[in-house]
Amino acid sequence: MADRHSDIQYKTPEQIVKMRSAGLLVAATLAKLREAVAPGVSTADLDVIAEDTIRSGGGIPSFLGYHGYPASICTSVNNEVVHAIPNPKAVLSDGDVISIDCGAIVDGWHGDSAITVPVGEVRRDVLRMAQVAEDAMWAGIAAAARGVRSGRGRLTDVSSAIQSSVRKAGRYGIVEGYGGHGIGTEMHQDPFVLNYGRPGKGPLLVAGLCIAIEPMLTLGRPRTVELDDGWTVVTADGSPAAHAEHTVALCEDGVWVLTAPDGGRERLGELAAQVARTESTTQA
Ligand code: MF3
Ligand code: CO
Repeated sequence: MADRHSDIQYKTPEQIVKMRSAGLLVAATLAKLREAVAPGVSTADLDVIAEDTIRSGGGIPSFLGYHGYPASICTSVNNEVVHAIPNPKAVLSDGDVISIDCGAIVDGWHGDSAITVPVGEVRRDVLRMAQVAEDAMWAGIAAAARGVRSGRGRLTDVSSAIQSSVRKAGRYGIVEGYGGHGIGTEMHQDPFVLNYGRPGKGPLLVAGLCIAIEPMLTLGRPRTVELDDGWTVVTADGSPAAHAEHTVALCEDGVWVLTAPDGGRERLGELAAQVARTESTTQA
């Protein structure tokens, strides 16, 4: 096939079914973590829950040991954007917002997903930003579905859809320098998926392409700084941030959102985009 890139690992339908197992385990873990978030809970407590849930579900926490990363999830609170390390001293309090990023390996295949969760009563503008990040992720996923069905879609159609969705919603910072990525037998593969840019560029959106789509927004300026721990990324202006991520498989007839329990059916239905038929044939 023309326009298949040699640096991309295209997956067979059978391999995508394996990635679904990893995706569902990540989804179950995040659901548990969402329930556990409350004032008084530390981010280290959340990490224990994550590792237990992943291991008892037959998976391996993919973040643990990744380039020396010391935990199973990233727990980024308020002005922390991504990659904050769980810590017993980081105790959640009312009004905080936490983004939890989680990855697992099942049978050699990866799933990667992130959610942003309010702690108690949270400022309306912060809640709205979290919703805008999630909506932008779904706009990107819907663009991938349309692109694969048309046969003419390209990767930056996803980037552009994310950006337009955010711009329509208001004046949020779209974090630069971080973005989505190919995913499969490794957590991070080609291609890199920017969260902004002009459409129509990059590899074709074809069946077998599996990507993590993950917009990161700030309430202020988009500029970020990495802390001395070598991991934690914070906003340069101290404004709060939000992050949403799903692992998505492109199929002949649409997309399969591997880290969404319903495969993306509900949200993509609202956006008039197509969930892959595989989704309905492999449901338990
Ligand atoms: N899940 C993150 C991503 O989406 C990566 C986490 S970095 C790690 O790219 F070191 F914590 F694993
Ligand atoms: Co990711």
